[in-house]
Amino acid sequence: MLGIEEKESSVDQRQQKQEDRADRRFYRHERENRFLVKRSEDYRVFDDVFNTPTIMVLNSLINNNVLKYIKGTLASGKESKVYLALGMNSEFRAVKIYLTVSAEFKKRLQYIAGDPRFSDIKKGSRNLISIWAKKEFKNLHTAYKSGVSVPFPHYVRRNVLVMEFIGDEDGNPCSNLLNSDSITSEDYEEVIEQTSKLYQKAQLVHADLSEYNIFKCVNGRIILFDFGSSVNTKHPNSKQFLIRDIVNVNRFFEKRGIEVLNMELAIEKITGGN
Ligand SMILES: Nc1ncnc2c1ncn2[C@@H]1O[C@H](COP(=O)(O)OP(=O)(O)OP(=O)(O)O)[C@@H](O)[C@H]1O
Ligand SMILES: [Mg+2]
Repeated sequence: MLGIEEKESSVDQRQQKQEDRADRRFYRHERENRFLVKRSEDYRVFDDVFNTPTIMVLNSLINNNVLKYIKGTLASGKESKVYLALGMNSEFRAVKIYLTVSAEFKKRLQYIAGDPRFSDIKKGSRNLISIWAKKEFKNLHTAYKSGVSVPFPHYVRRNVLVMEFIGDEDGNPCSNLLNSDSITSEDYEEVIEQTSKLYQKAQLVHADLSEYNIFKCVNGRIILFDFGSSVNTKHPNSKQFLIRDIVNVNRFFEKRGIEVLNMELAIEKITGGN
């Protein structure tokens, strides 16, 4: 039997090994093949998004009654494209398709490496991308279950994540905070409240929180999204990520003339002193 300290140190060592392994695999892959989308005939059927493997995933979603069809484009992010689709009962869905092994992705590898839930990183960036999509799905699921205001994740397969569409009945997505016409101190309180719930109930830190990854809908509802970077509160860098999230959020609200909590108070409020 191992004592608690010994157990923790063996978990730390295991995590360290996993991190090292993931880093080595990633950098080797990065050297050999800079893009997830291979520049061969097969992989270039339509464009960078609708390559053969992705079309096969979408086909299987349609055959398995997850989606009826893709209706249009919602947004192009740095590492993904997001589409508006229809579910089986013609309800809107958002479909996030993860793209290439970008510099961004490389930077974000630190969030996967060391997370024991994703210790099965096998060779190849296509696999890393699926891990990334699966990670966002799991994080959304954990947050949703804990009552945090996030899009409900319906399905994940390879590089494709199907989630609740956040927008109106005509298929227009809600604006993010940056593009919202009015920003109030209630919005700030709500962001802090949701971040606290995320920390204390879901045991997650968003780790990419900013005015870009928070929706404000016309009814005033605040919804956090883009959970690909989120980490467990036990992650060795979680406090550092939390501080960065608070800095981003505070900076945005201060610019809009809203009084914000100082760092110490914000941390206290979000973590409940833990
Ligand atoms: N559930 C959703 N409902 C409606 N629109 C969505 C949803 N999820 C994402 N979007 C739209 O897609 C955009 C990009 O989504 P997200 O931030 O998750 O992707 P990303 O690739 O991480 O983007 P970035 O790198 O720009 O942060 C959002 O700003 C939003 O406009
Ligand atoms: Mg985003």
